[in-house]
Amino acid sequence: MGAQARVFVTRHLPGNALERVAAEHDVEVWPDRLPPPRAELLARAPELDGLLALLTDPVDAELIAAAPRLRAISNYAVGVDNIDVEAATARGIPVGNTPDVLTEATADLALALMLAIARRLSEGEAFVRAGEWKTWEPGLLLGHDLHGATVGIVGYGRIGQAVGRRLEGFGCELLTANRSTDLAELLERSDFVTLHCPLTPATRGLIDEDALRRMKPTSYLVNTARGPIVDTDALARALHVGELAGAALDVTDPEPLPADHSLLTAPNLLVVPHVGSATHATRERMADMAVDNLLAGLDGRPMPHSVNHRAP
Ligand code: DGY
Repeated sequence: MGAQARVFVTRHLPGNALERVAAEHDVEVWPDRLPPPRAELLARAPELDGLLALLTDPVDAELIAAAPRLRAISNYAVGVDNIDVEAATARGIPVGNTPDVLTEATADLALALMLAIARRLSEGEAFVRAGEWKTWEPGLLLGHDLHGATVGIVGYGRIGQAVGRRLEGFGCELLTANRSTDLAELLERSDFVTLHCPLTPATRGLIDEDALRRMKPTSYLVNTARGPIVDTDALARALHVGELAGAALDVTDPEPLPADHSLLTAPNLLVVPHVGSATHATRERMADMAVDNLLAGLDGRPMPHSVNHRAP
């Protein structure tokens, strides 16, 4: 075991994984439900050896520069768009993430959103609770089929493929796109477009006004990846003018989406609060993996899962 390191963890995590950090190191866990304010992070930076951050915590070049002792950054997420990986790499700091363990849970949620938006589950529930369910009606709450539909999967990595496996069971035709050259045809042909690419400079705003116009007016957009992949204003407009049948979002831009945000006035929109990986088992596995990465980085061992340092 190496010398005790000073570690900051930006939120309590499900399960017992953080006990393993406390057993070896001097750890402070931010106690609030909301993320630590920027000033709190910067104030701790000069003394920090290790940082376990969430996707809500920007770990940018300024913060990294303010932390001269920092030697391990572990993100409690597979996506690392909140971290300036280039700045960390330039300093030789490994950045850990949590791939694989959340793939199936996120794919499950993508399917749940497709079914919920196309079969109008939120509307149905509101209808029942409002006391409007008077009888069985032939034309009540008609939606669209997922089975047999053509589904476009944008980003055919781990999660995209897990979604594809599920959709095969629904008898869907799958179209996939990893490059923008494949995207136009996918958008034009799909009944559902589901996003599973990382947020990078190349994918920011990928689903813009032009992309939405290419989609069929009977089609649905599902986003369980990152909010800024979709142009929010363009999506709101497309929903308002009926250019899309609906959208189901687990992620938004901005995130969190304020309760009075104009997007929420758009019709045929289902929004949930970034819960793709939110199952007990998955969040505990993510905590274990984030802690494994952190402890390895602090020990000077290769992180089991790092986006910038590979095990030799
Ligand atoms: C991730 O890991 O990137 C998800 O968005 C949260 O689990």
